[in-house]
Amino acid sequence: MKAWLLFFTGNNTLQRDSITTAISDEGIYIRNYTRPSGPGILVFDEMTSKLCNFLKEASREGHERILAIASSRNVIASVNVWRLLQAGASDVICWDSSIDSARNIAARLTRWSTVDQLLNSPCVKNRLVGNSFAWITLLRQVVEFSHFTDASILITGESGTGKELVAQLVHEQDQRPKKKDIVTLDCTTIVPELSGSEFFGHERGAFTGAITQRNGAFALADGGTLFLDEVGELPLSLQAQLLRVVQEGMYKRVGSNTWQKTSFRLVCATNKNLLQEVKEGRFRYDLYYRIAICTCHLPTLAKRTEDILLLARYFMKKLQPDEEVPDLDEAVWKYLLKRKYPGNVRDLKQMVSRIMYRHVGSGPVTVGEFPEEERPSDCYETADWHNESFRRAIRTALDQGVGLKDIGRTAENTAVQIAVTDEGGNLQRAAHKLRITDRALQMRQATRRQPETSHNKENF
Ligand SMILES: Nc1ncnc2c1ncn2[C@@H]1O[C@H](COP(=O)(O)OP(=O)(O)OP(=O)(O)O)[C@@H](O)[C@H]1O
Ligand SMILES: [Mg+2]
Repeated sequence: MKAWLLFFTGNNTLQRDSITTAISDEGIYIRNYTRPSGPGILVFDEMTSKLCNFLKEASREGHERILAIASSRNVIASVNVWRLLQAGASDVICWDSSIDSARNIAARLTRWSTVDQLLNSPCVKNRLVGNSFAWITLLRQVVEFSHFTDASILITGESGTGKELVAQLVHEQDQRPKKKDIVTLDCTTIVPELSGSEFFGHERGAFTGAITQRNGAFALADGGTLFLDEVGELPLSLQAQLLRVVQEGMYKRVGSNTWQKTSFRLVCATNKNLLQEVKEGRFRYDLYYRIAICTCHLPTLAKRTEDILLLARYFMKKLQPDEEVPDLDEAVWKYLLKRKYPGNVRDLKQMVSRIMYRHVGSGPVTVGEFPEEERPSDCYETADWHNESFRRAIRTALDQGVGLKDIGRTAENTAVQIAVTDEGGNLQRAAHKLRITDRALQMRQATRRQPETSHNKENF
């Protein structure tokens, strides 16, 4: 496999040569760094802002894999490795000639390359659409865990974020030999009186109406995957029964005294915060730790707005597979990007269907093809940001005698406050949103923490 290699170190040519040779000997074809970068190895001997900026750029904010190698044990001990990850490194290891560092490097690059190949395979790329960092990070985690292990996975996320799609992906990527099917059980539809039979199956005559023997979900999922959707809805009594099967793979049919054996991969999904449910006594903690060996949290559509138009085009193509996907008029795509999606991807999908049912001709989708109730009520809101309400706020400030300088400063402070809050306090992402450098934002925040001067009383 190919990777670029770059040294952010002093002129220790001896070490450079030995690192280059050792890595090449592990079968890595070393090339020079060029853009777009692809996977790479970066050897460093100190943490500088130049290094962090390079990581950010070369990793395309985390899309490309970069392995950062500290040139010695002392170096790795002296840097904040978490900051390197934040800057865009996928991992940080130390070059240590006493262990097989080159093999460790090759192992990581190979694993990442396999995961990224799987991610780019048509069965993933054409079904789980998205190119945003949040989505790619999530998929990498799911694919790696599904492909290389057979442990339980808990998928969490708001309604419509794609939990069921991800559960299917887990099953598809599972490498168990002679793998059987995925069996889905929706825990919201479980009737407590019949639930035993749903899960365990029953013997003939076990209860009134049990005229034949029947297999339950545990038997049907044997050799395959059991997908428990909305697992947070599972009654406590059933949670206890489930625990035994998950732990030991043994169960009895209703009306039988014989233990049956089963072996399945467990995938659970919920839009609840299960840890909170555990805290409040509604979910067993021992079951939680069994089902959540790996947890994957799906981002809301609001956290991956870069994917909105990509998804919209994907749904259009699905609706009209034999036709060219139409363009979107500027007002249409701007509105799609701006609209709120409480139902996440499902919401967008429905919205696109409703537009496409009205769309005619070979031209672009236009605003008149939006259903009436979808049209923005406040037209100013979808136009420029410096709209009527903005002018009103400025007029009020002027009427109150606020000068131009203070208006400008307040607008800047408000923009910073909004960006930092929206990005959950992550200054790097906030700086990106504000189109300023990380350093400029850090400086602003640092000044903010200093005692206020008499003319700067804004609280941002
Ligand atoms: N990344 C995606 N690419 C393509 N389609 C998607 C994507 N995410 C979700 N969808 C589509 O959106 C719809 C909702 O997805 P899904 O049913 O998997 O969500 P969910 O999280 O299970 O929702 P709920 O909590 O309501 O059950 C489905 O039609 C699914 O195909
Ligand atoms: Mg679902």
